[in-house]
Amino acid sequence: MGVIARYREHLPIGPATPEVDLSEGSTPLVPSRNIGRALGLKHLYFKYEGLNPTGSFKDRGMVVAVAKALEAGSRVFMCASTGNTSASMAAYAGRTGARAIVVVPSGEIALNKLSQALMYGAKVVALKGTFDFAFETVRELAGRYPVALMNSINPHRIEGQKTAAFEIVDALGDAPDYVMLPVGNAGNITAYWKGFKEYHATGRATRLPRMVGAQAEGAAPIVTGTPVANPKTVASAIRIGNPASWEGATSARDESGGIIAAVTDTEILSAQTRLAASEGLFAEPASAAPLALLFRLVRDGKIDKDSATVVVLTGSGLKDPDAALKNVEPPIELDGDARTLAKVLKL
Ligand code: F0G
Repeated sequence: MGVIARYREHLPIGPATPEVDLSEGSTPLVPSRNIGRALGLKHLYFKYEGLNPTGSFKDRGMVVAVAKALEAGSRVFMCASTGNTSASMAAYAGRTGARAIVVVPSGEIALNKLSQALMYGAKVVALKGTFDFAFETVRELAGRYPVALMNSINPHRIEGQKTAAFEIVDALGDAPDYVMLPVGNAGNITAYWKGFKEYHATGRATRLPRMVGAQAEGAAPIVTGTPVANPKTVASAIRIGNPASWEGATSARDESGGIIAAVTDTEILSAQTRLAASEGLFAEPASAAPLALLFRLVRDGKIDKDSATVVVLTGSGLKDPDAALKNVEPPIELDGDARTLAKVLKL
């Protein structure tokens, strides 16, 4: 069952909305086995969004945006992307027989994300410049030509993405104390906050979490309060200098009593490795940013040890093996037999 079937009554879906479903959502909320204990946190969970059909949380919003675009008669979808949005849009376009046009910053997106968009049949343009420039460009085109803009300024994306907040409450029985997630174009933190507020308003949650956003130090416009002309970080998914939902992110932060802070690339890569090696969860670099921030907040005594904390792992580590491989020992190259292997492994 996809998110539309599961949360239909909370979504802008009517009798005229075409059915679209890739069994997205319903991702596991995995209790931490080792990191929580090491940090002294009793209730730490990972919302593993990498298990969505295209490997990231984007499928939740895309399924709703695509259904609504089809309902409105659109057959050409367009987006700018750091990779995951384009993979997701292309998949749903392929599935529903629509045309997908993807504009990505040239040379700036992970190869596996690019391969997804191409395999799902999108027309991919690698545009020279930053993501922010690509986004400005598609926005201009969408204003001028009959194409549906599928970036997260499309409100139906936010509607779909808020279902992740519903799932967390449905799994825990109430909202946790902290929800931590990476912030790039800032649609997701906006969507989560909307979801928690809606569930709270209907009484399904008795409280609201503090929203904690992580940006990368070289791409931290919301943290510094100024757009970044040339954002730089190993976490290409959140290499964004002028987020479209800036205001949504600061509202989520301020209304919830949360924070948005920056972590370094070194912290991100080390959190990514620790997450994989000690929890068995391989997430892409952007997804490790909130965990890196959690390490710092715990060190600074800013997180109550009895609190329930959910770290959202927004995308699969398989999206960007190049980034991951920079931070691990390479395989042992060996030409030998069982005896030499035993010796090398010190068995
Ligand atoms: N994590 C991953 C894996 C992402 O791909 C993104 C955004 C984010 C976090 C940040 O979410 O933009 O809602 O604040 N990726 C977009 C894309 C920009 O084009 O795939 P956000």
